[in-house]
Amino acid sequence: EKGGYEHFMLKEMYEQPKAIADTFSPRIKDGQIVIEELGMNDEEIRAVSKIVIVACGSAYHAGMTGKYVLEGMARIPVEVDLASEFRYRDPILAEGTLVIVVSQSGETADSLAALREAKKKGCKVLGIVNVVGSSIAREADNVLYTWAGPEIAVATTKAYSCQLTALYLLAMRFAYARGAISESELAEMIEDLKKLPAQVEMLLSHKDRIQKFANRYLAARSIFFIGRGIDYAISLEGSLKLKEVSYIHSEAYAAGELKHGTISLIEEGTLVTAVLTQEDLYKKMLSNMEEVKTRGAFVMAVTNEGNLDVEKAADYVVYIPETNRFFTNSLAIVPLQLFGYYVAVGRGCDVDKPRNLAKSVTVE
Ligand code: M6R
Repeated sequence: EKGGYEHFMLKEMYEQPKAIADTFSPRIKDGQIVIEELGMNDEEIRAVSKIVIVACGSAYHAGMTGKYVLEGMARIPVEVDLASEFRYRDPILAEGTLVIVVSQSGETADSLAALREAKKKGCKVLGIVNVVGSSIAREADNVLYTWAGPEIAVATTKAYSCQLTALYLLAMRFAYARGAISESELAEMIEDLKKLPAQVEMLLSHKDRIQKFANRYLAARSIFFIGRGIDYAISLEGSLKLKEVSYIHSEAYAAGELKHGTISLIEEGTLVTAVLTQEDLYKKMLSNMEEVKTRGAFVMAVTNEGNLDVEKAADYVVYIPETNRFFTNSLAIVPLQLFGYYVAVGRGCDVDKPRNLAKSVTVE
């Protein structure tokens, strides 16, 4: 069943290249992003004044990436909310708001309740869902399926990667319809999207090196993740992956917030994982890395190929290949998934079924 892999989590990480390709391929036609399931023409897309993304857990983290991508690429205001908060705060949803519910299982109770709340308030709801025919898929006005296939491990990997892909497609479709990107920019993005599967594959092939590194941290007390902008979103997901399967306490921080709190937790040898893939935030990140390093932290960095300066501020560097600046999360997550996985394996944890967690959370 596990196809020769030790755990479903590892198998599913290895299925990412195919899952990502299966999610974008049917939606690229003649150099355009075609999302028939969206049920919206250009004019309707232009009439959307705001997007609200609601979800839980990793799907919420995908939503955070979605916010940076949709706002940055399509220049449309986006709010992201935890479904369990959204549903109880009598959300203000003006006309023209599109609500997006992101869910792998399509059965998460809070996400389903948030969907119902949004519909009750008259909003159009789009589901980004993996399980075909699930409750969220049935009740949403429209569904954009992520074609990840069945995901067994409690810690999501491939479904999360497909959620990112679906959100990129949506952003590209909106950006082009709204005149925020040109034909040639769109063409370039499509090329970069098509390269992602092979790039993810390449990053997965470094698993032994990551395992060796992970084995040094099996007894860590706390591990931190820092990033800015879109890299903050991936830090949150990297931190969740690690802690949910390894039971090591971990926190993700927006790198600029570090000196407002968590920096007091950095001790000699504390591992801080810094993600820096955005050129405009690069220098700021380097100085945040210096800040923790001078306090004794060991710094692991995930950055773009060619950013050689990083080697001065980090003790261990993983390079990701070149892609569009909006797509870097899809690559940066791979070493972070592998790291969380191997720390858990090294500690002898029940990787596919971490204690106290369920694959689909149908209680509120
Ligand atoms: O099925 P859903 O995508 O709605 O699930 C949401 C969360 O429960 C889920 O992402 C959870 O956080 C995972 N264990 C993360 O790996």
